[in-house]
Amino acid sequence: MLQATTRSDELHIPLAGVFAVIGCDGSGKTTLTRDLAQSLGNTRSAKRRYLGLVSGEMGDKIKSLPIIGVWLEEHLHRKANRALDMKKDLPGVGTALLMYLFSLWRVAQILQVRRLSRRGVQVIADRYPQAEIPGFHYDGPGLTVGRTSNWLVRKLARGEQTLYEWMARQRPVLIIRLNIDENTAHARKLDHDIKELRDKIAVMPQLKFNGARVCELDAAVPYPQVLEAALLAIKKASQPIV
Ligand SMILES: Nc1ncnc2c1ncn2[C@@H]1O[C@H](COP(=O)(O)OP(=O)(O)OP(=O)(O)O)[C@@H](O)[C@H]1O
Ligand SMILES: [Mg+2]
Repeated sequence: MLQATTRSDELHIPLAGVFAVIGCDGSGKTTLTRDLAQSLGNTRSAKRRYLGLVSGEMGDKIKSLPIIGVWLEEHLHRKANRALDMKKDLPGVGTALLMYLFSLWRVAQILQVRRLSRRGVQVIADRYPQAEIPGFHYDGPGLTVGRTSNWLVRKLARGEQTLYEWMARQRPVLIIRLNIDENTAHARKLDHDIKELRDKIAVMPQLKFNGARVCELDAAVPYPQVLEAALLAIKKASQPIV
């Protein structure tokens, strides 16, 4: 499935019309991607795609499921946290399989983004997968080889890394990184653990997204300024190179 689509990867061409917004929880990704999609859609077809996993929007969707929603979201969150804790061994085969399935789902999302890009539709992604730093919380691989002796989990971890490396080669034209301090982020997301926010804030600037063009924006300034700066950055990045 993935081998047949490597031509543009080899040529290092970003996916035309694809822009991604990344940043810690509370930095304003969802707010901004909604407005960007609406604004860019005035001139050419544009769609917003959420590319995150258990946290953020997907977590909210899971939580809203009847009866089991809240329990399931907490359960998945706990499992993801557990797998992330480098001091502990990876969880068992069941959880590893579940995480691998999440990664396959993510590949399907990226394939959809590619199809839209090829059809000339602009895509505004809320989050973007990366292969550099493990951890679902940072939109990286959930499993890592070397922390378990179980052959199946090791195999899944290796397979998952390959999937993420392929996804990372599907670079957007521009990554908009929303930078924020922990207090502002926490004030906007009071239900989030401040330690988790601090951790994400520390990791976000390290991500290179496989050499994609990155625009750094201060997300603590009033929202209209953030929107204006993001639109300007997209306009600049969309201009043909002469
Ligand atoms: N620049 C800003 N100034 C003030 N408030 C903002 C700004 N940007 C976003 N907000 C507000 O902060 C809250 C969180 O924003 P949003 O849900 O878009 O963040 P997010 O990055 O998508 O978070 P998550 O990763 O948890 O999904 C919202 O209530 C939004 O209206
Ligand atoms: Mg969001």
